[in-house]
Amino acid sequence: MNEHKKTVVIYPGTFDPITNGHLDIIERASELFDEVIVALARNSQKSPLFSEQERLKLVERSLMECCPHRTNIRTDAFQGLLVEYATARNATAVVRGLRAMSDFEYEFQMALMNRKLAPTISTVFLMPHEEYTYLNSTIIRELARYGKDVSDFVPNVVAAALKEKFEIKYH
Ligand code: COA
Repeated sequence: MNEHKKTVVIYPGTFDPITNGHLDIIERASELFDEVIVALARNSQKSPLFSEQERLKLVERSLMECCPHRTNIRTDAFQGLLVEYATARNATAVVRGLRAMSDFEYEFQMALMNRKLAPTISTVFLMPHEEYTYLNSTIIRELARYGKDVSDFVPNVVAAALKEKFEIKYH
């Protein structure tokens, strides 16, 4: 009999902070795969607003807020190369969101390089709901910095954390 191999996928990102667009991808992945590991990565090109611990806590709390019924989602953080982390976690694939054509070139390069480094780990692209295609964490941080309400775009815990962060920063 053909035994079903458990499908574990990694959804990596900086998540500074996590948005409804990320959550949309995570929920789609949790429908398709046995286990989804939302993995907070260190991106050497970025200097995040939130510390690693804060970002991880926001990811965990956001998941509790949006989808507590989804029991196949885990959270983690890693340093170093994504494919090394994915291999260590016995992952079958890396999940990435494709929001627009502008994402494609960067994603294409990253997927091909990751495949060169670890041929057995595939990259799976999922499309978020169209209402999230224009979202990114920089825009959210920018709106919050100028005191705009971002609760349409992020979970309540994230909106509150942004408000607190900018109140502390500027008052
Ligand atoms: N909804 C809303 N926003 C989204 C989104 C979605 N579905 N998907 C991505 N975004 C946003 C992110 O919030 C981020 O916003 P920002 O740049 O304004 O902060 C932006 O789109 C880019 O996201 P992403 O491409 O996921 O970048 P990232 O920095 O979050 O993640 C890593 C990149 C961490 C996956 C990559 O750097 C990595 O793998 N690092 C590990 C080291 C490594 O292996 N490097 C070699 C790679 S070949």
